Amino acid sequence: MEKIIDLEEAKKVINECHDLNELNNLRVTYLGKKSALSLAMAQMGKLKPEERAVYGKSVNDLKNELNNAINAQKAQLELAKLNETLQKETIDISLPGQSFEVGSKGIVAQVIDEICEICIGLGFSIAEGPEVESDHFNFEMMNIPKGHPARDMQDTFYIDETTLLRSHTSPVQAHVMLAAQGKGPIKVICPGKVYRRDEDTTHSHEFHQIEALVVDKGITMADLKGILLTIARKMFGEKREIRLRSSFFPFTEPSVEVDVSCFQCEGKGCNLCKGTGWIELLGAGMVHPNVLKGAGFDPNVYTGYAFGIGVERVAMLRYGIEDMRYLFANNVNIMKQFKKER
Ligand code: PHE
Repeated sequence: MEKIIDLEEAKKVINECHDLNELNNLRVTYLGKKSALSLAMAQMGKLKPEERAVYGKSVNDLKNELNNAINAQKAQLELAKLNETLQKETIDISLPGQSFEVGSKGIVAQVIDEICEICIGLGFSIAEGPEVESDHFNFEMMNIPKGHPARDMQDTFYIDETTLLRSHTSPVQAHVMLAAQGKGPIKVICPGKVYRRDEDTTHSHEFHQIEALVVDKGITMADLKGILLTIARKMFGEKREIRLRSSFFPFTEPSVEVDVSCFQCEGKGCNLCKGTGWIELLGAGMVHPNVLKGAGFDPNVYTGYAFGIGVERVAMLRYGIEDMRYLFANNVNIMKQFKKER
């Protein structure tokens, strides 16, 4: 039987190959369809059966030897290549890194988060309404018909005759009540942006409110006072007291202005509370029967309370910020002072 190929010679060629592509070519040469080995295998059918077994085994052994030699060389070449890459790409960890600062939430967003968290802990869920609102929801549904003097209380941006930028978050009350289809209980807070046509050190044309609405059978002013005291204490300290002063809003009856005892002077009188010991915090009241009725709730069965917190006002009080415009100045130095470590 003639020799198919010189195995020793082939192994030498394989071991001396130092390029993965070339090694691949060698695999084709020695083991491919047109290789001497394949041709030899094709001839096998012509042999006598007793010769065939012996010949077949030797061809197979040869094939295995070649395969092993190629695979071993391939593994070696790949390892060498990997080592070379690792060498080239080493990182010098002794070099000082590039430091960059992580941003943080703005002050207003932080205060909104905090109030929402407190209220969620008290069983409220969050509701939202549109910032581009209809006159109908912003005013009529809130018991402020056309020509009502209370329309002047909130200088409104109109888009056209019937569309406006909401001047308060109270219209969300109406959306939520309508969605509830006359069936309580409702217990929601509605944080969001509102717009009014004024701007000075304590007013911005764009600001934030958090509206609260609770509607159920048997809700009273005592429930309102209780929840307000809890929120005031969580926000401004356990020693705070609140007081309710009679006030007016068209959508609540009775209406109150809620004050919190001054957290800077503990009520003795200081610059923050202008010597009175009390700080005005928010507007509130029992939902007006007309509002309940207009939004599909029977005022003979259901009662409710609502309040509206001015977020910027709380932020300014809290951090002693004198000009509201600082809150939106995007001044990095100011932002840094209020950065919460994460
Ligand atoms: N909507 C009122 C305002 O913007 C605040 C308010 C809300 C008052 C709910 C009473 C009840 O001034």
